[in-house]
Amino acid sequence: MTALDAFLAELERLRSDAAAALDSAVPTGVASADAVEAARVEFLGARSGRLKAIQKLLGGVPAADKPAAGRHFNETKAAVAALLAAAQARVAAAATPAAPPLDVTLPGTPVPRGHLHPLTQTIRRVQEIMGRLGFESVDGPEVEDQWHNFEALAIPAEHPARDPLDNFYLAVARGSDPLLLRSQTSTVQIRVMEGRKPPLRIVSLGRVYRPDTADATHYPMFHQVEGLLIEPGTTMAHLKSVLRLFASSFLGGDVHVRFRPSFFPFTEPSVEVDMEWGGRWVEMGGAGMVDPAVLAAVGYDPAEVSGFAFGLGVERIAARRYGVADIRDFFRNDVRFLSQF
Ligand code: PHE
Repeated sequence: MTALDAFLAELERLRSDAAAALDSAVPTGVASADAVEAARVEFLGARSGRLKAIQKLLGGVPAADKPAAGRHFNETKAAVAALLAAAQARVAAAATPAAPPLDVTLPGTPVPRGHLHPLTQTIRRVQEIMGRLGFESVDGPEVEDQWHNFEALAIPAEHPARDPLDNFYLAVARGSDPLLLRSQTSTVQIRVMEGRKPPLRIVSLGRVYRPDTADATHYPMFHQVEGLLIEPGTTMAHLKSVLRLFASSFLGGDVHVRFRPSFFPFTEPSVEVDMEWGGRWVEMGGAGMVDPAVLAAVGYDPAEVSGFAFGLGVERIAARRYGVADIRDFFRNDVRFLSQF
C-alpha cells in the first residue's frame, strides 16, 4: 500500500466514524449536547483531534502525491465540520422550549364589535312605534325644490323662512327655482299627498339642514320625524293622543303632552309640542291641523278631508331619552361616547 493510499484510508475512516457519531439519527437532548461536544473534540480538536493526527501523516506522502492528498484532506475536514454544525443546530433546536400546547378552553382575543349609531337606533325605534300605530315609514329627497320645501307648504316668496341666510341653497343655477338642502321634513308630506289619495298615515325620518351655529342644542344638520295623518273626522284630540302614545312608548312610563299655541304656515291651528318626563317639560317640536291651503295645493278638497301633521327633533327626543346634554356628542364620532348606547 502506498503512503497516499494509507493516508486516504485514514481520512475515509475518520469520515465514516464522524458520520456514525454525528448522524442525524443521534438522539438529541442535554446528554447529546455533551456527545456532540465530545465528538467535536475527538474529530476536530485542535490539539489532539484525529484530523490533526492525520494531518501529521501528510509529511510521509511523496511530494508528487501531496496535492491530491491535500485536496482529500480539505474535503474530509469540510465534510466533518458540516456534520458537526448540523448536529449542533439540532441540539440547539431541541434545547429551545417547544411552544406550549394549545389550550382551546382559554378565552379568545375579543374582536371589537360595532353597533348602530344612537340616532339610527332612535330612528328605527320611532319607525317601529309609529308602525304599530299604523304609520307607514316613507323617505324623501334631501335636495329639494322651492315648491316642496316652501310653496306647497304655504310659505310664500317673501316669507323670512326662505331667506338665503337661513337656508343652504345650492350653487347650481336653476333660475327662479333654486334647489336647497331641505330645511324640514314637512316636504315629505307634500310629496306623499301629491302621489296618493287619503286616507294616509305616514312618518318620515331624515336629515334636515339649517345654517345654525353649532351649540349644545343646535347643529347645521339634524334629523326630524315628520308625521302626517289624513282621515275623515280627524281632530286635535287625535293628534295629542298619537303624540302621547308615541312619547310614552319611546321614553317609557307616563309622558304628558302639552300644546302651546303657535304658528306654522302649513298648519291651522298650530301648536308647539312639549313633553313632560321625569318632572321636566321639554319642547319637542311643532304640530297642528293641516292647513286647507296645503290640502288644496296637493289637489285634495279641504271641504272633504282633514288631518294633522307634526314634526319632532330626533336629536331632541334621543337626548331626552338617553340623558345627553350636548347634541354635538352625537356627531363627534367618539367611540367612548357611542359605545354607551
Ligand atoms: N316643519 C316644522 C319645523 O321644522 C315642524 C312642523 C311639522 C310643524 C309639522 C307643524 C307640523 O319647525
